[in-house]
Amino acid sequence: MTKAFVVGHPIKHSRSPLIHGYWLKQYGIDGSYERIDVAPVKFGDFLKDFRSQGFAGGNVTIPHKEMAFLSVERRTERAERVGAVNTLWFEDGVIWGDNTDVIGFMAHLDASLGKGWEQDVDTALVLGAGGAARAVVAGLQDRPLKRILVANRTLSKAEDLVRDLRPGSSVALETSAWEALGRVIPHAQLIVNTTSLGMAGQPPLTLDLSRVPRNAAVADIVYVPLETPLLSAAAAQGLRTVDGLGMLLHQAVPGFKRWFGVTPEVTPELRALILADIEGHR
Ligand code: ATR
Repeated sequence: MTKAFVVGHPIKHSRSPLIHGYWLKQYGIDGSYERIDVAPVKFGDFLKDFRSQGFAGGNVTIPHKEMAFLSVERRTERAERVGAVNTLWFEDGVIWGDNTDVIGFMAHLDASLGKGWEQDVDTALVLGAGGAARAVVAGLQDRPLKRILVANRTLSKAEDLVRDLRPGSSVALETSAWEALGRVIPHAQLIVNTTSLGMAGQPPLTLDLSRVPRNAAVADIVYVPLETPLLSAAAAQGLRTVDGLGMLLHQAVPGFKRWFGVTPEVTPELRALILADIEGHR
């Protein structure tokens, strides 16, 4: 039997066991995927020991993603760019780390907007400068766009992000002051919210979308609620919208493939299952 885990602190709210459990059953795989609560001081020991406990690898979530980045022996180029690791596996005798949020976001964007969506996008505007923003920018900068603008309430964090991700980028990376959003929004054909604004219990993200180009798309990585105030405002303007649940589902695909050897599919049934769980907890 192949075993995998999700490690975090706290961990009981993680939906990853539901996603991987669905796939294990779907593909008839003799495997398990379990939640493990590990306090930050114990995380180093956990990394050393997981192999001897019979695990093939697992996911890493809050607050261990940066620690995992620093502690693994090998990292993918994607993880290197983002500065955080969310997926671990053992290969050629060493622990590897990847950041699958990058592929998760891009796969869902491609699935939602259709391949070739980049043709309509010169400028992408990313709101926020935390770990999620890094993953989004790292994904977007592999695509044929002209410019990615990063706007954050704390401008210095946007500047740090751009400085870290700019080397080798074929897409121009620039920052925008949060107060200047009104001026830059009309130039963006893709807007992505990576801030916590709009999440249940948080204030909404209120942007004036009236001057957004008609062919623009608006994505939110918040998925509780699934339709954030930003996405409903975008839909009301007739803009295309991309919700946050797809990123959560798609980021799980590469890990499952590594540990269990099957590339799993993100199906409407899986989406409905996770959605029902989200609704059930609200
Ligand atoms: P994650 O790793 O999930 O991206 P994070 O690092 O906590 O989470 O980042 C949260 C993001 O939401 C940050 O960009 C934060 O802006 P600051 O860097 O200025 O803190 C943004 N954010 C949170 N509350 C906000 C608010 N009320 N207005 C604007 N941005 C906000």
